[in-house]
Amino acid sequence: MVTGALGQIGTELTEELRKKHGTHQVLATDVRDLPDHPCVTGGPFRYLSVIDADDFDRVITEEDIGTVYHLAAILSATGEKNPELCERINVGGTITVLEAARKHNLRVFAPSSIAVFGPDAPKHAPQICPLNPTTMYGRTKVTGERLAMNYWKQYGVDVRGIRYPGLISYKAPAGGGTTDYAVEIFHSALETGHYDCFVSSDTRLPMMYMSDAIRATISLMETPLDRIGDARGGYNVSGVSFTASELADAVASRVSGFTCDFNPDIRQKYADSWPDSIDDQSSREDWGWSPEYDLDALCDAMINGIRD
Ligand SMILES: NC(=O)c1ccc[n+]([C@@H]2O[C@H](COP(=O)([O-])OP(=O)(O)OC[C@H]3O[C@@H](n4cnc5c(N)ncnc54)[C@H](O)[C@@H]3O)[C@@H](O)[C@H]2O)c1
Repeated sequence: MVTGALGQIGTELTEELRKKHGTHQVLATDVRDLPDHPCVTGGPFRYLSVIDADDFDRVITEEDIGTVYHLAAILSATGEKNPELCERINVGGTITVLEAARKHNLRVFAPSSIAVFGPDAPKHAPQICPLNPTTMYGRTKVTGERLAMNYWKQYGVDVRGIRYPGLISYKAPAGGGTTDYAVEIFHSALETGHYDCFVSSDTRLPMMYMSDAIRATISLMETPLDRIGDARGGYNVSGVSFTASELADAVASRVSGFTCDFNPDIRQKYADSWPDSIDDQSSREDWGWSPEYDLDALCDAMINGIRD
């Protein structure tokens, strides 16, 4: 089962899992009503809110679920506008999933984020360091990692997670995060030839192309249990790190006449509190992680994908 399956990651993860395990082996769930979405037209789908624990339990039993990819969440930019909702969905939803996992012996993938790091973390963020995020979203992700560790240690629930960097993809819109500029810039470049970027030109953040993120997710979940270490609640993974102006230059070199202005808004503050890049040695050692997409490969894939 995939929760939040109609979102940016769920759209591509569900498609990949269906290719791998068979269409009818993968149940997509979400609270949005999007009848034409490929996850709804392309296989089994059920409306399911992750904060309705009774309904969640019923669906797990009725559909004979063994593994949950728990993607339902409120992302950073939306979450800071509505912190109570962010906490209710992100923490409450994760508790629903972990409680069901404890009762029904499920395996769980529950992603974390680079938003767990706060301004006191080194700019090249290590796996282990104090986690003092200044955003509500980041705090819900720290809680998610701690819950994951508790359920593993106390109940033996096999829950695993990745601290995703900003994810760049074209198949589904970005879901209200601070790194959305790295997705929007491609659409604006091809539609209007111009982008007003909401972070400053020198803002550097860890990013990753979606194919790498999906490969990392499936690879982590396929790793034998005895290889998974203490980072299980939120493995650092590195993709590519660039400034907003480096991204704009890379787009301009592919889309003639493209121009970009930088007008930071409130999201600059969230971006400034996060690291520039990620040390992912634990992922490399424990489950063989290695990214494939650099800035050039990512730009080519985005532009070709949107044009197609
Ligand atoms: N996209 C990124 O760049 C990024 C980076 C770091 C971490 N993450 C994490 O990855 C996960 C998925 O992110 P995404 O980008 O696909 O998000 P998204 O916003 O695109 O999708 C989230 C989905 O959850 C659904 N949802 C919201 N409330 C729900 C509820 N109560 N019950 C069921 N579904 C509900 C939404 O309808 C949406 O389809 C989240 O945990 C997010 O924090 C994402």
